[in-house]
Amino acid sequence: MYKILTNKELAPKIRLFEVYAPEVAEKTLPGQFIILIIGETGERIPLTIAGYDHKKGTIKFVFNEVGKTTKQLGLMKEGEYIETITGPLGNPSEIKNFGKVLCVGGGVMIAPMFLQVQALQKTGNKVTTVVGARIKDLLFFEDEMKVYSDKVYVATDDGSKGYKGLDFLKDLLFKEKFDRCVVMGPVVMMKAVSEMTKPFGIPTVVTLTPIMVDGMGMCGVCRVMVAGKMKFGCVDGPEFDGHAVDFDGLIKRQRLFLPEERLSSLLWEKLGGCSCGGK
Ligand SMILES: Cc1cc2nc3c(=O)[nH]c(=O)nc-3n(C[C@H](O)[C@H](O)[C@H](O)COP(=O)(O)OP(=O)(O)OC[C@H]3O[C@@H](n4cnc5c(N)ncnc54)[C@H](O)[C@@H]3O)c2cc1C
Ligand code: FES
Repeated sequence: MYKILTNKELAPKIRLFEVYAPEVAEKTLPGQFIILIIGETGERIPLTIAGYDHKKGTIKFVFNEVGKTTKQLGLMKEGEYIETITGPLGNPSEIKNFGKVLCVGGGVMIAPMFLQVQALQKTGNKVTTVVGARIKDLLFFEDEMKVYSDKVYVATDDGSKGYKGLDFLKDLLFKEKFDRCVVMGPVVMMKAVSEMTKPFGIPTVVTLTPIMVDGMGMCGVCRVMVAGKMKFGCVDGPEFDGHAVDFDGLIKRQRLFLPEERLSSLLWEKLGGCSCGGK
C-alpha cells in the first residue's frame, strides 16, 4: 500500500501526486515510469515518474484526468493509499553532456520533462526548453523550467500565451545549432517536432506512451514500429529515435479501445463516480 502525501491541482484536470514508495524511489532514474492499480479490482495504468527523492522515499507523478481510472485517482485524498505501484519500469534516459539540448514538453508531459531538464542542466548541457499546451490555462512549471534552462519558450495551440503552435521552432532551428532534441508530449506533437529536426540532422529522442498492460515485455500490447522493426514500448523504450518511429501506426493503436474507454468512464460516472476500491 502506498500513501498519498500530496494531491495538488496544477491546472484544470491535471494533478500532481507525491506518494511514499521507498522501494520504487530508491531505484528510479529520469525517464522511467510506474504502473499503478488504485484498488483491488482496478485497472493497471502507466504514468511517467516526474520526480523522486531517494532519501524521503517518495515519487511524484502528474496525470491528466482523461478516463475512469485517472478520474478515480484524482478523487483520492492525501492520507489515502494506492493499492499497488510497480516500478521503476522502462529504461532510464541517456543523460550526459551532449552540448546544447532542445527540450520540448507538451501537455501533461511537461512534468516529466522538468526532471529531464534538471538532469541535463546538472550534467553541463545548455538547455533550451519549450513548454506547450492547448490553451494558457493548461500550462504549468514555466517558472520552474526557467531555473534550469538557458531559455524558455512558451507555445499554445490557440495562441492564448506565447507562440501560436510550434512552427516558430523552424526559425529557431535555422538560427541556433542544437546537438540533441528531447520531446515528450502528445504523439502528434512528437511527430511534428521530429519532422522539423530531421532535416537538421539533430538526434531526437521521443517518449512513447502506447497502451500497455503488464509493462514487462510479456503481453505485446505496447508494440510499436521503429526503423521497420517491432519494438515493445515498455522494455525497449519508452524512449526511441523520433526519426525512426512509425507515429501513424502508433496513433491508430492508441485509438483501438476508444469506444470501450468511453463506455467505462460513462458507466462509472452513472454509478456515482467514487474513488473507492478501483471498481
Ligand atoms: C509509459 C507511459 C507513460 C505515461 N505517462 C503518463 C503521465 O505521466 N501522465 C499522464 O497523464 N498519462 C500518462 N500516460 C497515459 C496514461 O497511462 C493514460 O492516460 C491512462 O492509462 C488512462 O487511463 P483511464 O482509465 O483514466 O482512461 P482510459 O479510459 O483508458 O482512456 C481515456 C482516454 O485517454 C486515452 N488514453 C488511454 N491510454 C492512453 C495512452 N497510453 N496514451 C495516450 N492516451 C491514452 C484514450 O485514448 C482515451 O481517449 C502514460 C502512458 C504510458 C504507456
Ligand atoms: S506492456 Fe506488455 S509487452 Fe509492453
